[in-house]
Amino acid sequence: MYRSDALQSDCARLGVAPYQGQALAQLLDRIDLKEKRVLEVGGSNLPRELLFDAIGAREWVSIDIIAEGSYQLLQQSAHYKREGIEPLSKGASMLGKRQYLILDGAIENARDLPTGYFDVILSITSFEHILALASALAQMKRLLAPSGWIFTYHGPIWSSYCGHHIWVDDEINFNVEGAIPDFGHLLHSPPAMFNLLRRTYGDLRAERAVLQIYHQPRINRLFYEDYLTYFELAGFKKINAAPYARKEVSPELQRRLEAHHSGYHIFDAYGMSAFLQ
Ligand SMILES: C[S@@+](CC[C@H](N)C(=O)[O-])C[C@H]1O[C@@H](n2cnc3c(N)ncnc32)[C@H](O)[C@@H]1O
Repeated sequence: MYRSDALQSDCARLGVAPYQGQALAQLLDRIDLKEKRVLEVGGSNLPRELLFDAIGAREWVSIDIIAEGSYQLLQQSAHYKREGIEPLSKGASMLGKRQYLILDGAIENARDLPTGYFDVILSITSFEHILALASALAQMKRLLAPSGWIFTYHGPIWSSYCGHHIWVDDEINFNVEGAIPDFGHLLHSPPAMFNLLRRTYGDLRAERAVLQIYHQPRINRLFYEDYLTYFELAGFKKINAAPYARKEVSPELQRRLEAHHSGYHIFDAYGMSAFLQ
């Protein structure tokens, strides 16, 4: 079994992001990927040295929407040049011919790939971006061998304090504490948010932030509980989900959030990790 300390040092050596290392550690703690056929959903930037030499996977297929000029393409151009990118429409004819196959497309459109082909499906910080989650899960379930597992590790999810997930610039983004007031996206209307932000950032940047927070289709705006409902609706028999990076919510804030969003209670989870079978 590939040990956790070896994984962490390999990730650091190969330039794998710490959150990707954390996701892989959770997966490998439970499932050995040695000699497995793995499908990665919403990700295609893990180095082959990690996947094959260290983890020992037999075959690795990535299905990812790889936009022109995306940060992955720009920052890891050598990786993509080495592995190549094929359209998802060619996937069925190329499966098994390359140990590492990167397919550009949406998982919900993976209808031509063979049923039950993959032993494990992995997804890192992508489920919060998948808009058609019901059909995406249906495809993943179809592509998975009957005894296989899906593992997702994703966040920030919409119901968390920074679930708007925006990136306007270096100053206004979800990683800068207080750039957008915590939970502001769940408590303010778009014009109220615009009015709040314009005082600090001016009209133009405030509007850009508002467009991203409420209107851009880059995130699905699902609450923690919504993922669990979609998992159940997809028909998974085992759903082992847990929050990660929890941040305490005061009782007064919890009351306000629940008043604004009836039926929802979990607001302290930055992200979710889940095993589905
Ligand atoms: C935040 S990135 C994470 C990428 C990678 N896993 C990482 O950790 O660096 C989310 C990725 O999900 C992809 N994505 C969004 N919706 C998708 C879908 N329906 N099918 C496949 N990929 C999708 C995006 O294009 C993007 O590359």
